[in-house]
Amino acid sequence: MKIAVAKGDGIGEEIMQAVLRIFNAAKVPLEYVPVEMGKYIYDRGHSTGMTAEAKNTIELLGILFKGPMETPKGKGVKSINVTARKVWNTYANKRNFKSLTGVESVFSKAGIPINITIIRENIEDTYGGIEHKLTPDVALCRRFVTRPGSLQVHRYAFETARRKGAHKVTCGHKANIMKMTDGIFLETFYETAKDFPDISANDVIVDDLAMKLVVKPNEFDILVLPNLQGDIISDLCAGLVGGLGFAPSANIGDNISIFEAVHGTAPDIAGKNIANPTALLMSGIMMLRHIGLNESAAKIENALLCTLEQGIHTSDFGKAGTTSLNTTEYADAIINNIGNLPHEAAPTMAVAQDKLTHKPPVKPAGNIMKESRTQKEEILGVDFFIESNEQPRQVARKFLDVISSDFELLLISNRGTQVWPTGSIFTECIDQYQVRVLSRDDKPVSQEDILREAVKTAGHFKICSLEMLMNYDGVKSFSLAQGQ
Ligand code: NAI
Repeated sequence: MKIAVAKGDGIGEEIMQAVLRIFNAAKVPLEYVPVEMGKYIYDRGHSTGMTAEAKNTIELLGILFKGPMETPKGKGVKSINVTARKVWNTYANKRNFKSLTGVESVFSKAGIPINITIIRENIEDTYGGIEHKLTPDVALCRRFVTRPGSLQVHRYAFETARRKGAHKVTCGHKANIMKMTDGIFLETFYETAKDFPDISANDVIVDDLAMKLVVKPNEFDILVLPNLQGDIISDLCAGLVGGLGFAPSANIGDNISIFEAVHGTAPDIAGKNIANPTALLMSGIMMLRHIGLNESAAKIENALLCTLEQGIHTSDFGKAGTTSLNTTEYADAIINNIGNLPHEAAPTMAVAQDKLTHKPPVKPAGNIMKESRTQKEEILGVDFFIESNEQPRQVARKFLDVISSDFELLLISNRGTQVWPTGSIFTECIDQYQVRVLSRDDKPVSQEDILREAVKTAGHFKICSLEMLMNYDGVKSFSLAQGQ
């Protein structure tokens, strides 16, 4: 089987070389097709950070094993790492955090073993990076959370629990505050849990989760989180098991999957042959299991565990006062341990012989359209986001003068806090208001009715954006203002 390999930038080349040498020494039955992606490709004038050949190869083979890649600083360039995950719909980002003998952490010293898997939603949330400056003082980032996207990631989390033999999946969220977005994430979590009665499901608010992970990390097994919260919580978990050098990750999609370390290009140590290749090696082991090469994965994992038990380490970890090896020597030590089993850690057993299960993607005729539900929908009004540095009552006065009699001015808020008709004189305001205009007696209106109101409003204010106020199956689907 062929897979695509991108060495990446910074330490990428050194650690990828080390990992592929270990794979070859373990006789992993794979052929590596190099693809060109990363900062050095941007620098050659490819605005997407990858060549057309690289894109074709990855779409043909379906598996990309990649080193870290640098996003050029400055405006107008998106991260190649995030783009790759989104373009190929790798909806679940799986990150394993496990205590390893030879890798010291506060918890290993206390004899508390950790074995946490985080499944992070990988496409949506603020990571869409859809941002606008609405006024010179106000920036807005749109946060999409969708039902199909959430269902996909939750299903993968429960399936992972089954494969891992885990008994519990915990959903982290902030649905108490973000009732619509995180609300969808939480609702679809329990909906999915019904299909997995053998696995218990619970949820924790993400700030409480952060505290619990630091106090009692051994109580968690599989965690599923929205994109940004999952990103932050997974770095916290990396800290629990010894740092980013031991944090592997897999970006799983139905057609294309990407395997990479959590860490970046480490520009401070690039080119010195001292980087730790363990996280990339562990990502490679996840990849081998994903495509069915369980025996190869177990052989390499055992060699790694033996090496760590022997106290062998690169300069970023290990016992103080012991000599550290460079990247090449560290890889050699792992190669020398191929065929050996660890003594302290339980050896990893192959659940089956190597048997490739990966099927290259079949090109669909068009973009796949995910579930779209038909619900009775009505427009009840509109939120205008307008620029103004006038007092709330002056803004209200102008709206009351212009809106037609079919509508009423319900409220005005500033940064989500109601300032009209009631509010506190101590609420500080910036130059942007949300003005909610509702149809009288909840009578449904048309898009054209809303646009007519918008035209009248535009005579008095700059409209930065507007959102329709929707009723789906009789449920009002918009948030209240703070203090409403
Ligand atoms: P970083 O992870 O590259 O480095 C943070 C610190 O950890 C540095 O001190 C570095 O020397 C150390 N470190 C990281 N990996 C190491 C390893 N394998 N062995 C030993 N030490 C290691 O994070 P930073 O500095 O924030 O980002 C650098 C660049 O990497 C940026 O351009 C960023 O955009 C990119 N990046 C790429 C990622 C990816 O390709 N998936 C992920 C994160 C960052």
